[in-house]
Amino acid sequence: MRIFLTGATGYIGSAVLDALLRGNHQVTALVRTPQAKDALLARGVAPVLGDLTTPKSYRACADGFDAYVHTAADVGVKREGVDAKAIDTLLSAAASHAARTGTGAFVYTSGVWVLGSNAQPMTESAQPNPGQLLGWRPVHEQLVLKAAGNGLRTSVIRPGIVYGGSRGIVSDLLKNALNGLIRVIGTGDNHWPLVYDRDLADLYVRAATRPEALGIYHANDEADETVNAVVEGIVNHLSAPPDVRHVPLEEARKKVGAYADALALDQIVRGPRARELGWSPTLHSVSANVPRLLEEFRSGQERAA
Ligand SMILES: NC(=O)c1ccc[n+]([C@@H]2O[C@H](COP(=O)([O-])OP(=O)(O)OC[C@H]3O[C@@H](n4cnc5c(N)ncnc54)[C@H](OP(=O)(O)O)[C@@H]3O)[C@@H](O)[C@H]2O)c1
Repeated sequence: MRIFLTGATGYIGSAVLDALLRGNHQVTALVRTPQAKDALLARGVAPVLGDLTTPKSYRACADGFDAYVHTAADVGVKREGVDAKAIDTLLSAAASHAARTGTGAFVYTSGVWVLGSNAQPMTESAQPNPGQLLGWRPVHEQLVLKAAGNGLRTSVIRPGIVYGGSRGIVSDLLKNALNGLIRVIGTGDNHWPLVYDRDLADLYVRAATRPEALGIYHANDEADETVNAVVEGIVNHLSAPPDVRHVPLEEARKKVGAYADALALDQIVRGPRARELGWSPTLHSVSANVPRLLEEFRSGQERAA
């Protein structure tokens, strides 16, 4: 299939790109720098140099794709508006293609944090309860979901906290552990939904390419690990065990604001709809895979150096 991808240089987007290329899809990717453009060209990807903040920089190149996969996330203060514009631009391209050909797909990246804390397992039918950090996200999910029809399939993927490679929150834990100190926000008895990057990418490919894919999909390994269990798994594998410091939530909020509340969420997440697409994660927890994750982390660091 011909696929238009945003965020191909990012943590999630690069895993999705790898999976799409493994599946022999033809990928066109929006990138922001000439270096990224060259790197993608070398991998057989058609790059579009542009920026989500300026839809006209890529709109003309976004016509005529079988699927649009949006994983990019601007981190500026205007990120909500930038994301709304990106959804609008990509959905209009996807809808035009579907109107012409009778088929098309748009896959949007949200996250499990929109669900808030809940002691009960939350499936894809759970009501969102986003905190301060992500109040806008469920509105964007709805923009995407409501655009389905006239041949266009739209999906929202809600990844858990991603692990694997050398980026993201779990890699930060590994890095801090190797540096001798891990900080845990709150008691650490809260559960994190987690997902391996390659497994997550496989769900994106299914959402983009399967004719039955439509609606919300939760992506996590369903190990229901507490933060303390993740940290203990890491600590137990290191010959020089790091110190572990639990930082009270109030103190963490002063340093990182509402992000501290997101890391302190207690979530049990289930993805029966993702399983119905035939999705089955290959890794089932962080704590049981620490040697592999350390190896991936180290080799990612070496490549980046
Ligand atoms: N990582 C996780 O654990 C996780 C879990 C759940 C949900 N999510 C959600 O998934 C999304 C992606 O997360 P991520 O971890 O992959 O982020 P990331 O590693 O920071 O990647 C962000 C991507 O977006 C691109 N980008 C940023 N601003 C852009 C702009 N103005 N125009 C074009 N491209 C732009 C970046 O390109 P450059 O390389 O040019 O900067 C990069 O490719 C976010 O919405 C995040 O909330 C992430």
